[in-house]
Amino acid sequence: MPRALLLPFAFWVFTVIGSAQTLRQVSPWKSGVGLADRIADRPADWPLLTTQFSHVTPENCMKPDALRRTEQAWNFNQADKFVAFANSKDLKVVGHCLVWAKDDRTPAWFYQDGGAPASKEVLLARMKSYIETVVGRYKGKIAAWDVVNEALNDGKAELRESGWTRAAGEDFIALAFEYAHAADPSAQLIYNDYNNELDGKREKMLALLARLKARNSPVHAVGLQGHYEIDRVPYEALEKTLIALRGIGMKVVVSELDIDVIPRGRWWADGNKHRAEMAKINPYVDGCPPEILARQAEQYAQLFRLFRKYDDVIDRVSFWNLHDGQSWLNDFPWKRVNHPLLFDRQGKPKPAYDAVVKELVVKAEPAQAIEKAHAETWKRFVDEHGIVRDYVGELPNPEDCRLGKPNAIGWWSPIENGPMFTGMYLNAMVERARRSGTAVDKEQARKLSQGLLKCASVSDVPGFVARGVGSDGKCHYPLSSDDQMHPWFLGMHAYLQSDIPTTDERKVLVAKVREVAESLEGYGWKVPCDGAFKGDFRGGFKGEHFRDAVRYLHMLYATYEMTGDAVWLERYRKALAEKPAQSAETRQEICALGCPRDLSFIPHIEKGQLWIYVGTQTGLARLAAVETDPAIRAVYRQGLAVNAQFALPALETYAQFDNADQKVYGHARWREVYATWFPQKTQEDARRLSEIIDKKKAGTRKYYESTWMKNALAGAAIVALAGDQPGQAAVLKAVSHYDYAKLNMAEFFFAEVAYYALPEVK
Ligand code: XIL
Repeated sequence: MPRALLLPFAFWVFTVIGSAQTLRQVSPWKSGVGLADRIADRPADWPLLTTQFSHVTPENCMKPDALRRTEQAWNFNQADKFVAFANSKDLKVVGHCLVWAKDDRTPAWFYQDGGAPASKEVLLARMKSYIETVVGRYKGKIAAWDVVNEALNDGKAELRESGWTRAAGEDFIALAFEYAHAADPSAQLIYNDYNNELDGKREKMLALLARLKARNSPVHAVGLQGHYEIDRVPYEALEKTLIALRGIGMKVVVSELDIDVIPRGRWWADGNKHRAEMAKINPYVDGCPPEILARQAEQYAQLFRLFRKYDDVIDRVSFWNLHDGQSWLNDFPWKRVNHPLLFDRQGKPKPAYDAVVKELVVKAEPAQAIEKAHAETWKRFVDEHGIVRDYVGELPNPEDCRLGKPNAIGWWSPIENGPMFTGMYLNAMVERARRSGTAVDKEQARKLSQGLLKCASVSDVPGFVARGVGSDGKCHYPLSSDDQMHPWFLGMHAYLQSDIPTTDERKVLVAKVREVAESLEGYGWKVPCDGAFKGDFRGGFKGEHFRDAVRYLHMLYATYEMTGDAVWLERYRKALAEKPAQSAETRQEICALGCPRDLSFIPHIEKGQLWIYVGTQTGLARLAAVETDPAIRAVYRQGLAVNAQFALPALETYAQFDNADQKVYGHARWREVYATWFPQKTQEDARRLSEIIDKKKAGTRKYYESTWMKNALAGAAIVALAGDQPGQAAVLKAVSHYDYAKLNMAEFFFAEVAYYALPEVK
């Protein structure tokens, strides 16, 4: 892409993905904040609140002590106002908290009955009616509840001693969750505590959770309050805790985050004997020094880097208070001027804010999604030879390949599209490796190039490129195709253009390219078959379709670049001016028409066949980038733009894919699904055989993924490859949409193809 075109686009990417975005927009989890209760009376706070946060927790007004200090005196005044305000601003409310399992936080009347301590029955009955009243009152208006707060012991014992444990042991915890669930079955229920990520307390928490789980208690998430102190953020313990909670399938909310810049730990040490001395500490009355702010920023960034790593576990991150001026740490545990949050007393972003947003933006949604797609592809689809498989399923054995089972084309087997997928994917992986510069990425690109080499090395037919190899690492179906051949060149070309291959590797690969290209030239650019079909061809490149013209030109040019042999450049120039048989237009003219030209041959390309145009679009983009003649370059650009426009509606269907879809992907059991077999003498026999399917066994998931994933992501790739065309925002949204771990078909690699075709976000 020339600079002039790239600049506005780069600017656009920056403003959409860059630092102009807010916490709420860049967080891969719910972005929350604890709010001083009278928020409804402080309109000056609203803009900051609503741009940065989506979830609000009332700081005090919903605590038992506020709602019902005495048995008679319910007081919903503040709480009602708070909830009404939040609902009116489209903010979700986290109720805090139903049971605060601490004597100084529980109104005294709960524990007393006449002059004596209340019995277990009386206490639990009170708890039940309290929870029913409060949760019931806000049913549907409060999305989540901290059901039990701070019940774990900081010392040896499992549970903190309180009127609750004295009367009801551990039962009050389980019952609190049950009562809350009964009162509002759709609310998320949380067990909340402080220091519960630390060694020791963590184990107690895990044990408690296990016991609760054994009782079937509806605990949906664990709250880590996250009241940290500068230079003492417990990253390691936190990571261990996140791993452990992920391991038991428990969601995490970071419920009350702040980083105190005036460490307070000693307040509780040595039998409280430092308190008088500490109460005088108030170093930052006139503002927080820049070096402290910088340190705080770094530590926040490190914390969010860690959270991001566990974003599959973390459901919400809530700060405790909106800005420094409102932080509870100005009063707790002694009075001082504190600076623990992301916004200063004027509500202006502090260095910590920029650091956190930057941390989240670097791996903003699309990049994170791409990492997941990438990991899944390599975990499940790239085989030991470096060839991408279609899906995970039983491999065809030598007999299957020889007889043509399920059919001689190999359609519907897991080794149907090796070079096609591997070649396109390698093109993207070379760009990934260029961006990251890491050895791992380069190794992966190398592996794929070896996969392509393998496909072109398993037959004695010159120029034969197998669709993939079966169980013995060599056997393959006799029929290849043009759809396998062109991406083979594409991948080889990308790899050889990069600085990854060694000199020796280069020699081997170039020799193979030369061999395949010269064979094709000898066949008139038709694609040779193997085995029982030796002498036959399947598909070619000299036809009149748009895809023929582009792919032929691209292969000639790529071969020129790979081999350095000038004859290919001459052939390329000549081919441009030629009219293919049955065509009124020259190839050059055909290139401008884009894939709509092919609609008369391949109907409904936009509905299901975009995937076979991704390689074509890649080739066209490559030609547009290297062609020096401005007139021809313009023709290529026009074709790219036509295709982008054509594919955009399909791309926009990504949202129709429901990640929770449960349909069955029976096609993975290809032997049962395509059980009918007969010997195939002709390619037409093979095609007919391929259509005989047991629909019941197949299920409908394949069609679901093909339509709403494969076609949409192929559309995304076509749009992205076009360069400066509308739709780039939709590409980012589409690649962020899918839960890649749940997809059965390898074609989600198109997400990576699309992503690495967009300009790099720095
Ligand atoms: C704090 C509030 O911020 C203060 O205003 C109040 O005086 C005491 O409680 N853990 C919790 C929160 O679960 O409810 C606490 O909030 C902070 C520690």
